[in-house]
Amino acid sequence: MNLLYLVTIACFIFALKFLSSPATARRGNQIGAVGMVIAIIATLLKSGVHITWLMVIGAGIGGAFGALGARRVKMTAMPQMVALFNGVGGGAAALVALAEFHKLAPGGGRIQGDVSVAILLSALIGAVSFSGSLIAFAKLQELLSGRPITYPGQKIVNGVLFAACIAAGIAILTGAEHSWLLWALVAGASLFGVLFVLPIGGADMPVVISLLNAFTGLAAAATGFELENNVLIVSGMLVGASGTMLTLLMGRAMNRSIANVLFGAFGQVSTGAAGPSANGASNSVRSATADDVAVMLAYASKVVVVPGYGMAVAQAQHDVRALADILEAKGVEVTYAIHPVAGRMPGHMNVLLAEANVPYPQLKEMDEANAEFGRTDVALVIGANDVVNPDARNNAGSPIYGMPILNVDQSQAIVVLKRSMNPGFAGIANPLFLNPKTVMLFGDAKDSVARLAAGVKQL
Ligand code: TAP
Repeated sequence: MNLLYLVTIACFIFALKFLSSPATARRGNQIGAVGMVIAIIATLLKSGVHITWLMVIGAGIGGAFGALGARRVKMTAMPQMVALFNGVGGGAAALVALAEFHKLAPGGGRIQGDVSVAILLSALIGAVSFSGSLIAFAKLQELLSGRPITYPGQKIVNGVLFAACIAAGIAILTGAEHSWLLWALVAGASLFGVLFVLPIGGADMPVVISLLNAFTGLAAAATGFELENNVLIVSGMLVGASGTMLTLLMGRAMNRSIANVLFGAFGQVSTGAAGPSANGASNSVRSATADDVAVMLAYASKVVVVPGYGMAVAQAQHDVRALADILEAKGVEVTYAIHPVAGRMPGHMNVLLAEANVPYPQLKEMDEANAEFGRTDVALVIGANDVVNPDARNNAGSPIYGMPILNVDQSQAIVVLKRSMNPGFAGIANPLFLNPKTVMLFGDAKDSVARLAAGVKQL
């Protein structure tokens, strides 16, 4: 049994290793799945496991829902799918805690020893993660408003509720003989999860989901202590650690502290369309036709494609690859500049471009890409906005001031593909669109890229 668990843990560690590069991510995912299957089979074979058939049916139903959901989900809806999967993990940890409590203290009496701490932690963290993830899902699915939902005294209410949950936990630990206290703790923690996520803007949901994912990992690890299951302890800690690192990385890439993400109610004010900015850009927008832009691209020697959320919405990745192939056939050097938080989830652009079989060496991370803009003829910005906003560099009053950006404005010419002058995720104006070197090609990105490819082909 322990040997099988060891194989599982090794699979999970290799999976994480392989997942850290787009070139090996698919293999990483497969290795992780194999590890999970081994863990489930080993657990079912464990002596002392009763009603195995019920577990097989449960795993079958859960597996079928998971497989169907994962196959059907659109790439742009992936963050809410992760939220949902994560939430049920947290919910499961809380349910196991309730079940273990009743097993150890059938009459609703006292539970003793270290296991009580593990039970309380998995109940508390699992319930917060469950309900918080459901609210994150509802916000991203637009079942709830994506804007921060706030009211006066909100932080105090949340603080009091959290303190009450902790007090219930301490009361159980110190021997209060009431099982209702654990139910109250789970109910309070579930309510806290809802109230904690409501004031966070929809745009910050990927960070929140990653944080809740880390919470679920900790809840699972605590459940591992309850059930004396080593594989659950180790895998829960792996999830907890990697979720925490991902959360911190996203915060750093946006130059925002996690406290600002959680308590800053970011995204409350929308300033509407791009207006004049503080950094001396001109006030007029130059709009171009696809034929104009096709000429610019065909006669360039170096083009850098800068994909953003709009490319994901338009599902333009295959057309982008086709355009790049045509340009390369004409001797134009094409690379892709990838901002770490372009799109709505970590690695969003890498996944889309990998789907279109864009050669991995052509994808340049931010620092490498920024070193190249000075010798770039055309920066082709496809549905990106905030990640190329020079206010992040130049305007101390901007909400995204300090966020590292792709310096596309250092290129000889900039072409921006989007549908309108509407702002991006941060809801702020972008002076890049008013830069004299910039031309805008308005329209759906997939459509525009296809027109560009046709235009370049004819030249
Ligand atoms: P955004 O700033 O959100 O801009 C996307 C742009 O795409 C919009 O301005 C939109 O303009 C355009 N667009 C939408 N649909 C389009 C379509 N069908 N065709 C053409 N254009 C379309 O995107 P970004 O530059 O990728 O920045 C990402 C933002 O998300 C950052 O603010 C980042 O901090 C935030 N964020 C990211 C993450 C992760 S992990 N990636 C996590 C949390 C927050 P129109 O409506 O005018 O077309």
